[in-house]
Amino acid sequence: MTAKNYDALFEPITLPNGVQLDNRFSVNPITTNSSSREGLITEEDVNYAKRRAKSAPLHITTAAYIEDYGQLFEYGPSIRDDRHIYGLSKWAEAIQSEGSKGIIQLTHAGRFARTTLQDYGITYGPTEMDLQTPEPHRSYAMSQRKIDHVVEQYAEAARRAIRAGFAGVEISNAQRLLPQQFFSTFSNQRTDKYGPQSIENRARFGVEITAAIQRVVEEEQAKDFIIGFRGTPEEVRGDQIGYTVEEFNEYVDRLLDVADIQYYAIASWGKNVYQNKVRAEGANQGRFVNEVVHEHFKGRLPIIATGGIDSPDTALDALQHADMVGLSSVFVTEPDFVNKLATGRIDDIDTSLNPKQVEDLAIPQRAFKDLVDFFDLGGTLPEETRDTLRQMADQKSLADVKIYRDDR
Ligand SMILES: Cc1cc2nc3c(=O)[nH]c(=O)nc-3n(C[C@H](O)[C@H](O)[C@H](O)COP(=O)(O)O)c2cc1C
Repeated sequence: MTAKNYDALFEPITLPNGVQLDNRFSVNPITTNSSSREGLITEEDVNYAKRRAKSAPLHITTAAYIEDYGQLFEYGPSIRDDRHIYGLSKWAEAIQSEGSKGIIQLTHAGRFARTTLQDYGITYGPTEMDLQTPEPHRSYAMSQRKIDHVVEQYAEAARRAIRAGFAGVEISNAQRLLPQQFFSTFSNQRTDKYGPQSIENRARFGVEITAAIQRVVEEEQAKDFIIGFRGTPEEVRGDQIGYTVEEFNEYVDRLLDVADIQYYAIASWGKNVYQNKVRAEGANQGRFVNEVVHEHFKGRLPIIATGGIDSPDTALDALQHADMVGLSSVFVTEPDFVNKLATGRIDDIDTSLNPKQVEDLAIPQRAFKDLVDFFDLGGTLPEETRDTLRQMADQKSLADVKIYRDDR
């Protein structure tokens, strides 16, 4: 039997701005929930990142929330003010210690900001609505002033990312975060210039954020800086449509008009996301979402396929309709996936988790608190592995963990 040829995964790729990456893999965002309660980076975050410094040439971090009202994960990191730069620089240093490009993900959870709701009793979104998730609550509409503030907070977050030494930022418009909430007709029923009356209006909030970040990159003269984009290309509930793939492609085209975006990572909640098919009626119904998106942006914007990639074969399969592949769950338990594949040790690739390996893998003892169920949504890791993580997540203590505070 001849060995399968995985060479396509090891061809270098050049991003539109000229930055070269040695192969087609990227570490994708996964919140370990191991920062401090105020969102400061801890030694656990740094050790976890360092252990994955050789995992892939592009390394996109966990969601970092850009203001108090956008916090989803209780122990997620934050980039909301300058106090965070010191710890973030330690994190960037660890991620990039073997030459990878470290990209920090900038997020605002809007109406689903679970921890904000817990702490402040309130969430904001495009439109005032009564919601059931994460628990029954009323989410309030953002005023023009609040919109301007959030746009500015994104821009300032990008400035901090540059100062902390990151090679780039990723603006997440995916997985029902705030920019997506503005683009979706499910969550946006405004009557002003940000409303759902036209694609231009629905796109306006995302366009303003992206343009503001581009402005900061130019002001800071951040050479080779990577502005990445994460998006969920279609939103459908039964026969109701929040937006179609074609509309979202047009949205991303509008973002490309205002910023030099270097990649588009396709992401969504669910199983085997990279194989999702277009659900809305129309010429593309039934085709692979990734194929439709990849075709639209071919030669203009590298596409990263994510979701459900759990083996060399699925990575190769996903690359059919993408330029790169992004793995989240796999790198938790198998940080050496790419290296093993590159050196022909394919049989050594193992995504299961033996509790004895936790130290070597630098998985924080209190990792994934309240988050293990997210692994079940994708089901990419074996069930036993998820159960081991669940048991670990139940035994939590923040005691004795070094927090990177700037005490100067
Ligand atoms: C515990 C957990 C935390 C996650 N945290 C983030 C995050 O911070 N930002 C993000 O964009 N996606 C996050 N995701 C989603 C993943 O990036 C990814 O889309 C999903 O796990 C599917 O990819 P996979 O099959 O490679 O795991 C998270 C997923 C899990 C399971």
